[in-house]
Amino acid sequence: MRFGGLTAVGDVSMRVHDGEIVGLIGPNGAGKTTFFNCLTGMYIPTEGRVTLAGEQLPPKPLKVVRAGMARTFQNIRLFGNMTALENVMVGRYCRTSSMALTSVLRGPKFRREESATRERAQELLDYVGLGKSTELLARNLPYGDQRRLEIARALATDPQILLLDEPTAGMNPKETEETMHLIFKIRDSGLAVVVIEHDMRFIFNLCDRVLCLVRGSVLVEGTPGEVQSDPRVIEAYIGGDDADEEEDA
Ligand SMILES: Nc1ncnc2c1ncn2[C@@H]1O[C@H](COP(=O)(O)OP(=O)(O)O)[C@@H](O)[C@H]1O
Ligand SMILES: [Mg+2]
Repeated sequence: MRFGGLTAVGDVSMRVHDGEIVGLIGPNGAGKTTFFNCLTGMYIPTEGRVTLAGEQLPPKPLKVVRAGMARTFQNIRLFGNMTALENVMVGRYCRTSSMALTSVLRGPKFRREESATRERAQELLDYVGLGKSTELLARNLPYGDQRRLEIARALATDPQILLLDEPTAGMNPKETEETMHLIFKIRDSGLAVVVIEHDMRFIFNLCDRVLCLVRGSVLVEGTPGEVQSDPRVIEAYIGGDDADEEEDA
């Protein structure tokens, strides 16, 4: 992915299997979020391709979601004035016909679908541990709960692969621990998961495999043990080169 003269993501290749958790680490500005944006059709990559279960995905967000790839965002993107339940229901609409004529006519088919959607959304809130927050407005939820709500909304699209962009940013240690168990549970249900995080303890305890990205390229790839003990990774973080230290939004 090039932006003018800047290659934000260069020679990056990643393959993820069902039931696998892959970590993506690297200093700020390394290209991690841009990589997710390319996978999910939010950016149209200058070169390269994305395939899911052998099918090439077009760079169109709705088509990508329907094909089975869902994500959360580094800077939370919820509908603040909608309830937790409604936010999850929105995720579900990519699988129902409710966006179409049925919702205008509000006939029996619409009502059946709507109540199934509501039920599934409630199940997912329970699943991520937000079962008691159903009717709260998203903007009034504590930060950690908003991150969990984004995961529930992503799961509502019935993905095969889930991309999480800094899922524990701003969480306390207890919430981080709970998030780790939630991700294990998601993996155990058969999904592939890719996680961007800066919390190294979290990443190395969670992932089967880790890639360290620096300036748009893969610096190191391996098991948590291999990546953890690689001096190049430490160097990349503590500024062995002119890594961008700025906090991103
Ligand atoms: N839409 C864009 N236009 C121009 N530059 C961008 C755009 N999106 C990201 N970048 C640049 O790409 C680089 C990688 O950013 P990002 O993917 O957000 O890094 P990370 O998530 O690893 O911190 C940065 O230099 C950033 O400024
Ligand atoms: Mg980022």
